[in-house]
Amino acid sequence: TTELITDPASWQARCTAAREAGTRIALVTTMGYLHEGHLSLMREARRRADEGGRRGLAVGTIFVNPTQFGPTEDLARYPRDLEGDLAKCAAAGLDAVLAPSDPALMFAPGHETWVTVERASQGLDGASRPGHFRGVATVVAKLFNLTRPHVALFGEKDWQQVAVIRAMVRDLAFGIEIVGMPIVREPDGLALSSRNAYLSPDERRRALALSGALAAAREATARGERDAASLRAGARARLEAAGGRVDYVEIVHPETLAPVARAEPGSVLLLAAWFGATRLIDNGRLP
Ligand code: PAJ
Repeated sequence: TTELITDPASWQARCTAAREAGTRIALVTTMGYLHEGHLSLMREARRRADEGGRRGLAVGTIFVNPTQFGPTEDLARYPRDLEGDLAKCAAAGLDAVLAPSDPALMFAPGHETWVTVERASQGLDGASRPGHFRGVATVVAKLFNLTRPHVALFGEKDWQQVAVIRAMVRDLAFGIEIVGMPIVREPDGLALSSRNAYLSPDERRRALALSGALAAAREATARGERDAASLRAGARARLEAAGGRVDYVEIVHPETLAPVARAEPGSVLLLAAWFGATRLIDNGRLP
């Protein structure tokens, strides 16, 4: 079973002792309501902690971080299931989980220190969700300091988030290996997300336009279409035909996230759209 720790100070003591004993630590940070996407990261954390033949420490965190939600976003109704999550963490092979029992244990009144990753946080989700990546970078920096992992795993579902974390780790010399993991999807193509729980059956069907638009753009690129504007227009049309309200459709360089005029092999198509009251994101590399 997975040990549950609800106090960040005890967690830090536990992880520090392990690190000082020479134990390799692998970390997965989440907001809970775990699905196969999270669990794929946790299984990989188990493997990476045990690299080198010695049993390491594979750990996770479950914390719905209030500082990354905007005032009109879904913080209050974000889905939670700590008991179910712990059973899944155990099945995925985690040794311990930090789930702070009170947000004030992470962000006490008077908290005044923030991490801002300037360039990588611009545009895309950073433009639609002001302050979001400041909240993400700050909580991840704090979770890194509490855990001091050797390696941390993040899903490419949140492509811009991985870029923000990589930039932060590089610029502030965290000395942590950051591993990006592929998007896990439902059999019909919908990218797994805790927010899928908000979708009505009809919205769930229409949200398939996201993965459908990615597939269509990949096919068009494979047939020789390289013009980013027409690839973007095609994706937008598919989302709108499904009743999605488009937030953005962008084709960017995979590392710099700078928009490109012509799709190159490896360019990333990034999508964000609303289906009813639920905002979903998806992305994929172009061939
Ligand atoms: P959360 O949305 O719970 O996601 C936790 C991790 O799981 C992230 O690295 C995310 O990219 C990954 N993930 C989510 N869905 C995935 C999927 N379908 N396939 C692969 N990986 C997937 O991202 C956050 O939480 C927060 O911003 C956090 C980093 C924990 C900071 O609060």
